[in-house]
Amino acid sequence: MIQVNDNFRHLPVSYLFSEVARRINAFKSEHPSTEVVRMDIGDVTRPLFPSVVKAMHEAVDELGSSSRFHGYGPEQGYPFLREAIAAHDYHGRGIDINPSDIFISDGAKSDLGNLGDVYSRDCKVAIMNPAYPVYVDDSVIDGRAGVFHDGRWSDILYLDCDPDNHFMPMLPTGRADVIFLCFPNNPTGEGISKRELKRWVDYAREKGNLIIYDSAYEAFVREDGIVRSIYEIEGAEEVAIEIRSFSKTAGFTGLRCGYTVVPSALKGRYANGEEVALRTLWNRRQTTKFNGASYISQRAAAAVYTPEGLEDVKRNTDYYMRNAEIIRDTFRKIGFRAYGGENSPYVWATSGDGRDSWELFTFFLENFGFSTTPGSGFGSKGEGYVRLTGFNSRENTEKGMSRLLERMK
Ligand code: MLT
Repeated sequence: MIQVNDNFRHLPVSYLFSEVARRINAFKSEHPSTEVVRMDIGDVTRPLFPSVVKAMHEAVDELGSSSRFHGYGPEQGYPFLREAIAAHDYHGRGIDINPSDIFISDGAKSDLGNLGDVYSRDCKVAIMNPAYPVYVDDSVIDGRAGVFHDGRWSDILYLDCDPDNHFMPMLPTGRADVIFLCFPNNPTGEGISKRELKRWVDYAREKGNLIIYDSAYEAFVREDGIVRSIYEIEGAEEVAIEIRSFSKTAGFTGLRCGYTVVPSALKGRYANGEEVALRTLWNRRQTTKFNGASYISQRAAAAVYTPEGLEDVKRNTDYYMRNAEIIRDTFRKIGFRAYGGENSPYVWATSGDGRDSWELFTFFLENFGFSTTPGSGFGSKGEGYVRLTGFNSRENTEKGMSRLLERMK
């Protein structure tokens, strides 16, 4: 038998959302008459936009025609999509990003993990606590996390977030090489102001850090002054990689397409001191290990940037945001402290009475028939919280929340 990657031994047995699904399914099989309203994983429920569906049909016809068929595409993504992203998501907002620095992928989650190939195994990672579990789990698999003790990994620098700091992490006090930031934040739902994010960019420029900026939820930003892209901050192109996804913006959780920006100005060093652009390494990594996102998905993503597609993005995200507002207001009515839902589809709620996250998860599932994600799955600072998502239908969201209001009166 071969020896396997020992780092897996130290991971929780299952990925957070798999464990949540397992417990929901166990509950459903014991209570087949209860219709469980899912508010746990951030999976969308509204169908693909008509413009997206049309683009996919056309792409399929193209690939089915002997005169228009084509096989492998560029590993970095097709120019038509990279250019549409640059034009709309960056140039249209006054940000200068070169389409050749945009790499199309099958989604944010894969890129978050794959980027670990680019920076040294010895890099110390700093991660917000609570955070999307992928940052920590990837660091564990890659051997950057150390040993697990008392809810924390010894080699990860945790950036604790709680109501006392308005869920905004403090700048690191110890060594950090690679800093993961996510705004609008998953799970707390908080957005970040330009002034606050500038502190991070300035810090990273001074210390020579890399920021991996997850902005998968930027389309949900509603308030002026809340950042959508880290490149809104001067100098960020020298220190930051930005990761985005069409999953929540345009309903691509099943279709799969996202992108990562690795600006050419972002540099690192080999062990011998020689300087190299991270873009060069990422390009080398992608051309070696990835054959590009599917042509059909990329045509679908390009349709998101048509006038009809952009209107649908607004309509869709508004719909989910209204659900989040309903959830947040209901939780406040029953006496919970509830945050988020203003620039993000997530609501972060605590009873504040000492009940732990899995107890709350079970309480809502068993008594009201809706599911949440236990906050402790996002890190030790998530203990006592649950996360709810606005991604279900309005009808189901209202059903779940009215069950709660009626029975908690
Ligand atoms: C979440 O619920 O946090 C996300 O949907 C998970 C993901 O995007 O992988």
